[in-house]
This record gives sequence, C-alpha cells and structure tokens, in this order.
Amino acid sequence: MTMAEDAVPVIAVDGPAASGKGTIAAGVARALGFHLLDSGALYRLVALQAIGKGIPLDAEKRLGAAAEGLDVVFDGDRVRLDGRDVTEAIRSEAVSAGASRVAVHPAVRTALYSRQRAFRRQPGLVADGRDMGTVVFADAPVKVYVTASAEERARRRHKQLIEKGISSTLDGLLRDIRDRDARDAGRAAAPLKPAADAAILDTTNMTIDDAIGFVLEQFQAKKR
Ligand code: DC
Repeated sequence: MTMAEDAVPVIAVDGPAASGKGTIAAGVARALGFHLLDSGALYRLVALQAIGKGIPLDAEKRLGAAAEGLDVVFDGDRVRLDGRDVTEAIRSEAVSAGASRVAVHPAVRTALYSRQRAFRRQPGLVADGRDMGTVVFADAPVKVYVTASAEERARRRHKQLIEKGISSTLDGLLRDIRDRDARDAGRAAAPLKPAADAAILDTTNMTIDDAIGFVLEQFQAKKR
C-alpha cells in the first residue's frame, strides 16, 4: 500500500509482550513528531477498573460497559483514570495478566475501537498493540510486526524488574510470557498475528536504535 496524500499516515507496530515494540513505537513517534497510541494501556485500564470494582474477568457485558465508560486522560507520559494517576498501577503483573483476559471479549474490543481511532490526527500516528495492522488500522501504509524469542523477552523483563527493585525469577517470567502469548494468539477475536502486509522485525539480537531505524526506513520507503 502506498500513502494516500490526504490520509493521516499510521505506522502500526504490533507484536507479543516484551518484544520491545512499546519502546520502538515511542522512539519512532518522537523521531517523526507523530502522536502515539499505546493501545495496550486501554486494555490495562479496563482490567484495573474491573479489579477495583470487583467485576469478574469473564463477565463480558459488564466489562464491555466498563470499557465504554472509561474516564481516561492521557497526559504526556501519565495516565489518569477517574482523575487518579494510574501510570504505575496499570503496569503491575496482576493488571498485565488481567488485561490479556479482558482482551478476549469482543464487547471490550468493540468498545475500545473508536477511542483508538480518535488518536489518528495530523501529522501522523504510531500505534502500538496486537491488532493495529490487522484490525484497528487495517489501512495503515506502514506495518511492522516486532518479535523476539520468548527467552530473550523474559530476560529483558527480568532486567527491567531488577532495575525497579522488584524480585522475580526467569522461569516464572518465561512461563507468564508463554501463557500471555498463547492467550493473545489463541483468542477468536482479533488474535495476535502479523498482518499479511507487515514487515517482520526480529529484535532478539538487535539494539533499540537499530530497530527504530528499521521502522523509520519502512516509512521513508512508503513516502517515495
Ligand atoms: O501491550 P501490552 O502488554 O500493554 O498489552 C496488554 C494486554 O492487552 C495484552 O496481553 C493483550 C491486550 N491487547 C490487545 O488485545 N490488543 C491490543 N491492541 C493491545 C493489547
């Protein structure tokens, strides 16, 4: 797909948990001066809301209503839910697992579509998630599927947690990552998979700067 002159360009960056896609998407957005959508944060907010309100993670209708009614403000790097700063709260392991559970429900996914599409504004958008290139921005001119081996992703997560002073075991993290991959890829609604027209970027042995450079090259090539 080439870029339509009048359409707001979207760069879709999809991939599994801890693949580096969030850091890559943020770096690309910064380099181009584009808006950034961290779509996983929306699923995390639904999970946080559900846990806080005691909504079971399999109660599709109630979760859909919670997703519809989210009172969320993205303010630079900070996220507020119902006026409360939840930037750190949505990154906990409990919310990570909960997000992957609420994300299986079509009612939740549908409720979040228009919120995600509202991020598409000039001069452009970098959208990070699982189904940016396959569903939400299926017409995106640039699609990249970021991946890395499960072992490498567990090692990266382990390092991040050590830096935050949180103890964990590599085996436990690897198990969590594999569980989350299976749930994200195995669900019926918008499963995690590369779009047919996505470029595959394996970051197992790559630096973040090289990965950002790869995505920027893909974008420049589409502009030619
Ligand atoms: O990218 P993340 O780890 O913040 O995403 C958290 C969970 O949300 C992930 O396990 C699956 C779900 N998710 C999704 O289903 N679709 C998206 N576009 C983004 C995230």
